[in-house]
Amino acid sequence: VRTRVAIVGAGPAGLLLSHLLAAAGIGSIVIDRRERDEIERTVRAGILEQGTVDLLVSSDASTRVLADGHRHDGIELRFDGAGHRFDFPALTGRSVWLYPQHEVLTDLIAARLADGQDLRFGVTATAVRDAASSRPTVVAVDADGAELEIEAEVVVGADGSHGVVRKTVSPTGGHFREYPFAWFGILCEARPSNDVLVYSSADAGFALISQRSESVQRMYFQCEPDTDPAAMSDVQIWAELRKRTPGMRLNEGPIIRRDVLRFRSFVAHELRRGRTVLVGDAAHTVPPTGAKGMNLAVADVVLLDRAIRALLLDGDEGPLDRFPEVAARRIWKAQHFSSWMTNLLHTAPDATDFDRRRRQGELHMLTGSESGRRYLAEAYTGWPFDTAL
Ligand code: DHB
Repeated sequence: VRTRVAIVGAGPAGLLLSHLLAAAGIGSIVIDRRERDEIERTVRAGILEQGTVDLLVSSDASTRVLADGHRHDGIELRFDGAGHRFDFPALTGRSVWLYPQHEVLTDLIAARLADGQDLRFGVTATAVRDAASSRPTVVAVDADGAELEIEAEVVVGADGSHGVVRKTVSPTGGHFREYPFAWFGILCEARPSNDVLVYSSADAGFALISQRSESVQRMYFQCEPDTDPAAMSDVQIWAELRKRTPGMRLNEGPIIRRDVLRFRSFVAHELRRGRTVLVGDAAHTVPPTGAKGMNLAVADVVLLDRAIRALLLDGDEGPLDRFPEVAARRIWKAQHFSSWMTNLLHTAPDATDFDRRRRQGELHMLTGSESGRRYLAEAYTGWPFDTAL
């Protein structure tokens, strides 16, 4: 088959790109190896930047975010048994929204299908042919094993950190670092423990008390990367969470899901090869502290939408040429912020007494100064989108 833009991956990046392109009259085909219900059920990120929410609403991708999402006017950072509030509207004039990624995906899939989007589930990309030509082609196989070729004018790899498109665009891999810890995550049936998210750093390690709804909460605590999620009892999990949130009362309830998230920072060496481009987790991964992953994917797409429109509507290749350089500026800011938040709040297994005391100094310096609080708040609520290419 032929289309103008072939998009591999029906996550937030791929679906939002198809949505924005359609608004400009540019057709696309979106494929994903997963089935629709798996995409809509997967538990992922929870926090949307103000700019992400504004875009979802203004582009008609989701209005439910305003009705069913929750505006959060800050976060709390806890250490030494005390909480420190970061008041985002006072510091930046912006807020963030709690609206789970699977809800964003549910809205996007519904909007795309209602618009007649060619969206194919259970179709696995196996290769990109002629990536650098003006007719790059995605080779794929469907659930029945039938081969499919999608010939396009632009191919977009939005197929996540294990996707196939990255191998073509950035065969040498990328810049990365690993971390000597992970998060043990749970979903539990309980009322929220606080009005905003709590990032807590204690001697026993880090915990994040996040939320999903009035009746379901998401919580994480720092663990070793090879922890087996099945190996801990509910009683042990609550004991770990309590140890890492001294001075705070946690609302407990039945644990309905548990998983372990490994930490990694990664940026592909190349974001583009000819007419084949990477966005979202296919292009980069950040550790979860600071909630930048999905928001960064959205920022990539805002920029790539501009570049593809310039190419396919005006015949101007310049913006696509400049896409990697312009996108990389925000990518590396988000990389810095995510690894800074991670190192600020976690206890490294090999930390010396000096390291621990230095980190306490940094926490006091940050929370004790309005400039410090604003530094964090500006990054957390999200920088304005770059649109000039
Ligand atoms: C969540 C995850 C994060 O990494 C974060 O910084 C805030 C919230 C979450 O899953 O709720």
